[in-house]
Amino acid sequence: MVRFNLYSAEFDANPFDTYKELRDNHPCFWSEDAQKWVLTRHEDIVNALQDWQTYSSAKGNLVDEFPGRAGNTLGTMDPPRHDEVRSIVQSVFMKRNIKHLVEPIQQIARDAIKNNIKGKKVFDFSQDFAGELTYKVLATLLGLPENSYTHEVKNNAELMVQTDPKTRTKGPEHMAAFEWMKDYAAEVVELRSRDPGTDLVSQLITAEVDDRKLDLIQVQMTVTTLLMAGIESLGGMLKVFGFNLASFPEQRQKIIDDMSLLPDALEESMRYNTSAQRFRRCLTKDTTLHGQTMKKGDFVILAYGAGNRDERKYENPDVYDVTRNSKGHVGMGGGTHTCLGNSVARLAVKTAMEIFLEEVPQFSLAEPVERLDWVASSNFRSPVKLLLVKE
Ligand code: HEM
Repeated sequence: MVRFNLYSAEFDANPFDTYKELRDNHPCFWSEDAQKWVLTRHEDIVNALQDWQTYSSAKGNLVDEFPGRAGNTLGTMDPPRHDEVRSIVQSVFMKRNIKHLVEPIQQIARDAIKNNIKGKKVFDFSQDFAGELTYKVLATLLGLPENSYTHEVKNNAELMVQTDPKTRTKGPEHMAAFEWMKDYAAEVVELRSRDPGTDLVSQLITAEVDDRKLDLIQVQMTVTTLLMAGIESLGGMLKVFGFNLASFPEQRQKIIDDMSLLPDALEESMRYNTSAQRFRRCLTKDTTLHGQTMKKGDFVILAYGAGNRDERKYENPDVYDVTRNSKGHVGMGGGTHTCLGNSVARLAVKTAMEIFLEEVPQFSLAEPVERLDWVASSNFRSPVKLLLVKE
């Protein structure tokens, strides 16, 4: 009998065989383990993303949600409130010309290579490059006070996305991480209210759309979410890209020979292996799909990572091919809740990887892929450590 057990290390290591079995034989599947429905076909996921009236985010979008988060963040609101808040937050993302981040990111990438990687034969791409870069990019973007709680922010963001595999809920350490992050966000908001700068938090406090501002709780929750979403998703995106380029040297060589392939290679990385594997919705009415009737109030997992490998959408989906047109992938979600950080994240990863490939063009996995530990999260998937060896 097929199982969809999000709470096992085997599934974290390889969800793709299960995804295929579900796409082919159980496209609308009730998971006893998750106590939720699971959609795995690309078309069904895209339709659900468009139909927010039926597939609501208002009860939370994390597969295992934090109490008190739903309704207070962008990802956990439905229109019209969602659209109002999004236009305020988006106005901030747009107002800032994100191109100004290119030089700082280049510098951060060069420094990370010089300080953590040069002179080593084996290095941890996760810690030495992705982790450092992600924190610093987020700190620059949000205007976090310098050197404040660097490790705590990283550690708590990582803990927030995990679930206790035994209880299948957020455990005390995950709740404590969420509380810590909320307090930290409140401190940053308070600081920027007193002493505004040109950073995102200062702009969130003052941004107005149609004479409306965000209230302070919304600013605090938005900053909490940006820290979690930013650190885990951006770090994960970079780690998985590094993992793919280490695993497929002939694809990496194509990029080195023609750097203009880098943007497509990144899109293909998000199709093949997105770090944002699964998000959740709640049904607002009884809904029948592929002969299964899902009830109002049931939770549904949209398995983005499975939709991206759907052979009904992509030819040879299990092949990582940097020259393929991977348009339409749902590696950053879609519809109303399409990732708001998508341009910043793409810019950061492309800029950083360009420098990395220039300075460290030849590398491979330092240990067999079976030995990698994957983050224990029902939403996200990326290697905890990624030891690479220079060639
Ligand atoms: C700077 C980094 C990032 C920031 C600040 C950020 C922020 C956000 C925000 C605020 C949302 C909610 C949007 C809404 O509901 O209207 C969102 C959604 C999303 N983001 Fe990001 N994000 C970042 C990076 C990434 C990356 C790198 C990925 C994937 C590789 C990603 C995947 C997603 C997905 C899948 C959703 C949709 C969630 C859902 O369907 O409920 N994000 N992001």
